[in-house]
This record gives sequence, structure tokens and C-alpha cells, in this order.
Amino acid sequence: MKRPVAAVAGTGRGVPAHVMTNHDFAAIGIETSHDWIFERSGIVERHIAKNGETTCSMASEASRKAMDAAGVHPGEIDVIILATATPDRLLPSTAVDIQAELGATRAAAFDIGAACSGWLYAMTTAEGLIMSGTAETALVIGAEKMSAIVDWKDRSTCVLFGDGAGAVVLQRSKGGKGILSAYMRSDGKLADLLYRPEGGATTPMSADVLEKRSHLVRMAGREVFKHAVRSMSDAADRALDGARLTGTDIDLLIPHQANMRIIEATAKHSGIPMEKVFVNVDRYGNTSSASIPIALNEAIESGRVKDGSTVMMVAFGAGFTWASMVIRF
Ligand code: ACO
Repeated sequence: MKRPVAAVAGTGRGVPAHVMTNHDFAAIGIETSHDWIFERSGIVERHIAKNGETTCSMASEASRKAMDAAGVHPGEIDVIILATATPDRLLPSTAVDIQAELGATRAAAFDIGAACSGWLYAMTTAEGLIMSGTAETALVIGAEKMSAIVDWKDRSTCVLFGDGAGAVVLQRSKGGKGILSAYMRSDGKLADLLYRPEGGATTPMSADVLEKRSHLVRMAGREVFKHAVRSMSDAADRALDGARLTGTDIDLLIPHQANMRIIEATAKHSGIPMEKVFVNVDRYGNTSSASIPIALNEAIESGRVKDGSTVMMVAFGAGFTWASMVIRF
């Protein structure tokens, strides 16, 4: 087992106040129903950014709470890593906007793009920086304004996503607590199953792109579903192997909150009963890279993660990317 070098010192979340329920889609002309959405995904409602809320503003709120919980002030942060698929601007990174907003003047700041697995990628990167001695204190954020990139005319995708941010302060560990194992994988051959076809450097934004709506998220739902179940199960096995643990050693599983059926399949594969699985997809929908840090923060707040708890996190996202981590608290 890898000796823990980096541990969670505090967590926080920043989510928009506005809640959109499944019933609210009718009012914007989407032909769907609560039953269709709930039966296929487990989603009941999601938070949607309004009134100027941005990826940076949600991330900054989550970060301030995480720093408060950790007893760390902005000047102590060595590095800010933001996992996001929805940066506020394409240049510079949103992490530098967060740095300015927080007044974390000593910090290096950069974004990581690995879609829904992004926060676990960012945590693994931060752990490496602490391990190498480059950083002592890292702010690791997952923040998304998915409402800005979903196609509000495509009922097969727009009902699934939500906005929000979660953040963690990661510091050099003491007393055997911290990250016990981490695993990351990607398969770029499958990129076109969940992507934004145009509007990037290859086909910059134009009237034609806007007309085709090809700058918005497109997803082959069934294919994504199959790969998500397979890859999240694989990632769970790897995290357990890396930590020399089995499913029975896990006090809480926090899977990426995309879809209740994917969550149930992942838990079943690892032999973890649903009582030991944290679920909030019903209240948030899929917030991509923000989903695990938001869930972790809620799990700590509700007492489901305590001193000594062993927690496994597993994610899957566009790319495809998948990742997992076991942390002792
Ligand atoms: N309301 C009502 N009907 C709908 C809706 C909707 N919102 N969306 C699609 N339909 C219809 C379709 O038009 C289709 O109708 P048809 O049979 O007349 O053509 C029918 O419902 C079935 O559509 P499917 O797409 O085949 O439905 P499926 O049972 O596969 O469920 C879903 C779709 C929920 C998207 C499922 O495939 C899924 O969960 N996939 C995984 C998606 C996911 O979790 N992605 C994110 C993971 S990765 C990440 O987080 C980035």
C-alpha cells in the first residue's frame, strides 16, 4: 500500500440557489416528463446558475468554505487546480480568475480538462505535487456551469446536467490519513461519443457553428452508459487493489453522480451495499467534475464521513476518461 502523503484538510461547496425540477422543462418547451427522467437517471432536480453566477463564482464560494474548514488562509495556498469542462473564458484559465478572487497571491493556478473524471485527475496531480515537495497546500476544485454548454433544445441531454462547485484543501498528511491509492485512465478513440463537435480551434465559432448548434454537448447516451458501467467497475477494482483493500473495507463509496443506474451497477460490482453509497444525483443531476467534491462535502457535513472513514471515489467522463481514489479520513 502506498504511504499517504496528502490528506483532505477541509471541503466546501458552492451551488446556485435556483433549483429547476423535472416538471419545469415543460415551461421551456421541452417535451419530457418527470417519470421519463427519473426512471432513467434518478434525477429529480438540478441547480442552475442565474444572475451572473459563473464557474469562477461557484468555485470561489466552495473554496472559501473549504479553506475555512481547513483553517487555511488564501496566502498559504501553493497551487490551485481547477477541474472544469466549462471555463468562463477560453484564455486564460479560470483557475487564475479564482486565484485573483480569493487573493491567493502565492499560488500557481491552472485548469485540468478531463470532464467528469477531472476532479480525481486534479486530486492525483495535487498529490504528486505534494509528494515531490513542490507544494505543501493545494486547493483542488471541481466546478461546472453545464447549463452554458448543453443544448436546451435536445431533450436527451439537457435534462441530465446541472451546475455547481466543490473544493478540497489537500495538505501533507499526518498520522496515516490521506490518499491510499489513485488510478487514472483514458481512451481517446471514443471521444466522439460525448463531445462538443465544433467551436474550438479547429472550427472556430461562426454563424454556421451557431446555426448548427455544433458547439454544444452531443452524447450517444446508450454507448456512454455501457462504457461508464464497464470503466467505473474497472476503476473501482484498481483503487481497491492499489490500497490492498476489498469492498467490505470501504465505509462509503462516492461515485460520480451521473445516473442512478450507473451508480447501482458500480456498487454491485464492488460488493458494496447501497447503504454505503452516497447519492445526491436526485438533487443535483450530473455536475460533471463538481459531482464528487460536492458529494464529499455533503457526506462530511451529514456525518457519513468521519474520522477514520475509508472512502472510495470513482468517476467516468467524456474522453473517455475514468479514475478512482481511496482516501482515509
Ligand atoms: N424525455 C422523454 N423522452 C426522451 C427524452 C426525454 N428527456 N430523451 C430521449 N427520449 C426518447 C428518445 O427520443 C427515444 O425515443 P424513440 O424510442 O421514440 O426514438 C427514447 O426516449 C429512448 O431514448 P434512448 O436515448 O434510447 O433512452 P435510454 O433508455 O438509453 O436513456 C439516457 C437515455 C438516460 C441518456 C441513458 O442512455 C443514459 O443514462 N446514458 C448515460 C448518460 C450519462 O450518464 N452520461 C454522462 C456520463 S459521463 C459524464 O458524466 C460526462
